[in-house]
Order: sequence, then C-alpha cells, then structure tokens
Amino acid sequence: MDRNEALKIVKPQLTDHRYQHTIGVMETAIILAKKYGADEKKAETAAIFHDYAKFKPKEEMKKLIIDEKMPAVLLDYNSELWHAPVGAFLVEKVVGIKDEDILDAIRYHTSGRKGMSLLEKVIYLADYIEPGRHFPGVDEVRKLAQEDLNLALIKAVQNTIIFLMKKNQAVFPETFEAYNDLVISRRID
Ligand SMILES: [Fe+2]
Ligand SMILES: [Fe+2]
Repeated sequence: MDRNEALKIVKPQLTDHRYQHTIGVMETAIILAKKYGADEKKAETAAIFHDYAKFKPKEEMKKLIIDEKMPAVLLDYNSELWHAPVGAFLVEKVVGIKDEDILDAIRYHTSGRKGMSLLEKVIYLADYIEPGRHFPGVDEVRKLAQEDLNLALIKAVQNTIIFLMKKNQAVFPETFEAYNDLVISRRID
C-alpha cells in the first residue's frame, strides 16, 4: 500500500500525539530495516498501522479478543497489551492487509514473543526508540540499535520487564519468552 494512502487511513484512528509517534516509528523502522536487511516496504506499512487499535474502547477490544478467539490469557494482563493483537486483526479485516509478516509485526509489537522475525524485531525496537520517546534508558537502547539489533532488543525487553516489576505489575509470559529466547540465541550464536 502507498505510504500516503496508509497514513490517510490511520490518521483518524489516532490522536495527534500518537500520529506523530507513528511517523517517528515509520521513519525509524525504515532506517532499521535498511541497516539490518529487513523488507523496507513491509517495515513502513507495519509501522504505520502498528497502533491502529490504540484508541479502541476496552470493551470493544475485549469482545474481539473473545469472539475472534485470540489468546484469552490476554484478558488477565494489562489492557495496554490488547491493542496489538486487536490491531493485527482489524488491519487485516478492515484495512485489508493480508501479509502475515506485517500482521505478525503488529500483533507482537507490545509483548514480543519467542522466535521473533527480523521484521517483528525492527517494529518492536522502532516503537521503543523513535525520536519522540523520552524515558530512562532509551538513549542506551538507541545507541545499541546502531550496532546490534539483538542486543538493543534484549535491553529494550529487559527495561520493559524491570519497569513492570517495579510497579508490581504482571509480566505477560510471551515477553519473558522473548527475553529468554533472545539471550539464549545470543549465547549460542
Ligand atoms: Fe502500541
Ligand atoms: Fe507505538
């Protein structure tokens, strides 16, 4: 899909702030895709649509998770996680994007998972480090992203887990699995 057409579809779904974030994720994802050999066009499209469901009402997301047989375990965890799988579903059904690589990159952009594809890693990281992000530790991950995609991702997932734990929040199992898988793969490589 053409970039401007995609942006025109996503804009009414987002606040101005979130739209600016989306532009930042798109630009960062293209840079990372170029650097690490991912498909730039898929990275662009996945980035544009990654937060498509961000502002859907909780009840609507909950209903879709149940009706469309997404993992029910999601409902036990922070609702911040829901917009990713719900977004993948809506981007396929409403926007009509069928590419599984793009849909998976949207589906796992918040939780991560074991065995993340290159495109999933690019989108997860672009979402974390885009220029509009300001939080402790982000500059370290930005720096790592210029040298080593997996190391940057390990740090980003680690920061996320630590952040949740410090707030006494539950950590979604796939996030732990993503972290362990990245660390173990790195040891074996
Ligand atoms: Fe998101
Ligand atoms: Fe995002």
